[in-house]
Amino acid sequence: MNHQQYKLEYEVYADASALKQEDASLLDEARKVTDQAYAPYSAFKVGAVAKLANGALVIGTNQENASFPVGICAERVLLSAAATLHPGVAIESIAISYNNTKGKSNHPVSPCGVCRQSLLEYEIRVKSPIRLILSGLEGNVYVIPQAGSLLPLSFTSEDMK
Ligand code: THU
Repeated sequence: MNHQQYKLEYEVYADASALKQEDASLLDEARKVTDQAYAPYSAFKVGAVAKLANGALVIGTNQENASFPVGICAERVLLSAAATLHPGVAIESIAISYNNTKGKSNHPVSPCGVCRQSLLEYEIRVKSPIRLILSGLEGNVYVIPQAGSLLPLSFTSEDMK
């Protein structure tokens, strides 16, 4: 029997002003884009902005539905748009923020399990890691160098060979 350990390394910043300029402005955009979410059921508006290797910015917001499971997270709206508008182009960084309109927005939230799976496959697809910059509308910021690291022991197409 062997014990295995999985180590996740990420950076923690006290607030957006401690980030390098490029990351701070991407996070600022993500905070603004929360306004474009359609979240009448959860009142939890998520905004995501990606910086692509070709310099393009692509945004995504959560889009809910009266039939709850039909709703889609901001991250997967963004990935679908990026893959469609800029096929094959790597995503360097994605900033993700949220406006919890009935509560607080002062700590980072990280992508749900389904979105982690989608982010991982995108990294594999374009052979490039995606940095995540996570923060609420205020407060501390996490920078995760590789989105796929949030999904240890993941299932990928390799497992189907
Ligand atoms: N949501 C996202 O868009 N991204 C996340 O990372 C977490 C959750 C959305 C889904 C739903 O519309 C609302 O936030 C509350 O779960």
